[in-house]
Amino acid sequence: MIEKRVAIAAVIFVLALTGVIALAVRTTGIGLPTCLTDVRPFSQGKVIEQAPKRYEIHYVARMWKFDPPEISLVPGSVADIYLSTADVTHGVDIIGTNFNLMAVPGAVNYARVKFEHPGDYLVVCNEYCGLNHQNMAGVIHVTEKAAAPPPPPAAPAAGAGKAVLEQYACTACHSVDGSAGTGPTFKGLFGSKRVFADGTTTIADEEYIERSIEKPSANVVKGFDNVMPEMPVPPADIHAIVQYIETLK
Ligand code: CUA
Repeated sequence: MIEKRVAIAAVIFVLALTGVIALAVRTTGIGLPTCLTDVRPFSQGKVIEQAPKRYEIHYVARMWKFDPPEISLVPGSVADIYLSTADVTHGVDIIGTNFNLMAVPGAVNYARVKFEHPGDYLVVCNEYCGLNHQNMAGVIHVTEKAAAPPPPPAAPAAGAGKAVLEQYACTACHSVDGSAGTGPTFKGLFGSKRVFADGTTTIADEEYIERSIEKPSANVVKGFDNVMPEMPVPPADIHAIVQYIETLK
């Protein structure tokens, strides 16, 4: 009977196809996407580093962004990605990998991805999900983590020192234009010779200015009263003040 032969051939074909797929999955190490029925949907994204180069990522798709929006991994990382949606159905495609899953309300889908090569992997939504669907994107940075360089000292913006002087009310007593005040003017101060009440002298450098802020009574300029309070000023602010005073020639 011809129908019986066709049926048997069809069964053999399906079995063979299943075998080939199973073999391909085994030999290439492809993680099959899975719908997990024992994991509750979540609404918060997170990245958990389980071991060096092993990550568990909870990815949440929502109108119209991914959470976390940016993820950083080192090359060679294996990520177990659990995908949930906070609202409607989204499709999540990590460009450059074979990760392409639906984010379905009420369900958690899972796939494992290995990020072999450095680069920025764009994450896009490929299921129409509303007004801003076309802008729904995230990124996974795969880069060697350089030893974090020390943060560069904040470059004081022009006028930063002036603002600091005003912040600590220094200008209430010290003018910046040479006019008289309760304390000596800052104009022409930097690099000038200071003569103190006790007869000693010094050249006004950064150290002197710093000392004068922290311990004003140590060197009282001749002709002025010892009235300035000690000011707890952070080093960065002192630096900004000194830089500003330097410009007051
Ligand atoms: Cu989310 Cu389209």
